[in-house]
Amino acid sequence: MNILFMGPPGAGKGTQAERIVEEFNVPHISTGDAFRLAMKQGTPLGLKAKEYVDQGLLVPDEITNGIVKERLAQDDCTNGFLLDGFPRTLQQAEALDVMLAELGRSIDHVVNLKVDRGLLLARLTGRRICKSCATTYHVLFNPPKVEGICDKDGGELYQRSDDTEEKVGTRLDEYTSKTAPLLNYYSDKGLLREVDGEKDINDVTSDIVSCLKGSL
Ligand code: AP5
Ligand code: ZN
Repeated sequence: MNILFMGPPGAGKGTQAERIVEEFNVPHISTGDAFRLAMKQGTPLGLKAKEYVDQGLLVPDEITNGIVKERLAQDDCTNGFLLDGFPRTLQQAEALDVMLAELGRSIDHVVNLKVDRGLLLARLTGRRICKSCATTYHVLFNPPKVEGICDKDGGELYQRSDDTEEKVGTRLDEYTSKTAPLLNYYSDKGLLREVDGEKDINDVTSDIVSCLKGSL
């Protein structure tokens, strides 16, 4: 199954993607994770991406499209994939259609996680991530058993540099002006599935699973 996850920053795309890829046994492709990894490694891509990510701005389309094209051509994507955080502009969506057509594939479902803007700021500023396994927590909504420590492997939790109040504001504005218009693009194609992302994390997962299995 070829799935896209859409939704504003903090809607729960990463949290749900971790669970859905296990359920459907497909690779999780997150452009945000790819940029953060390249930034950590200090590669030329990482240095370029950092100029934008650190300001909460979208990385230019030609850079982002290139990463996704390379990733989708890998063998583990043959039987499906979950794209999280891509596409985010109309140009990226059109480029994705071309990439998939060249591979003889197409999108099956576009899941849009709906969350009110007021809740997103609280979700993002309270987010903490494990340094070793990248599991996502929230200081209030999804806390680890021991403060600052990952439940799964004892790793140290950190806060993303773009999760400050100021950068979250810029990211939400980028979403509203450049990404939200894509919802019409996919709704016109009959691919859009809306899911209430404000429910409890487990309930959102069940809703997504039902919707992907066609019963919601
Ligand atoms: P990216 O990493 O994709 O960030 P994002 O879209 O801003 O999304 P987030 O990861 O912030 O949020 P999420 O929806 O995954 O929420 P999460 O599950 O963590 O992109 C980062 C940057 O990279 C961009 O700003 C841009 O610069 C660049 N970039 C990436 N893709 C690009 C592209 N295609 N084009 C150009 N540039 C690109 O949840 C958030 C918090 O809420 C967590 O703490 C979680 O525990 C909690 N939570 C989740 N669900 C619930 C729930 N149901 N109830 C209560 N709490 C919840
Ligand atoms: Zn961990």
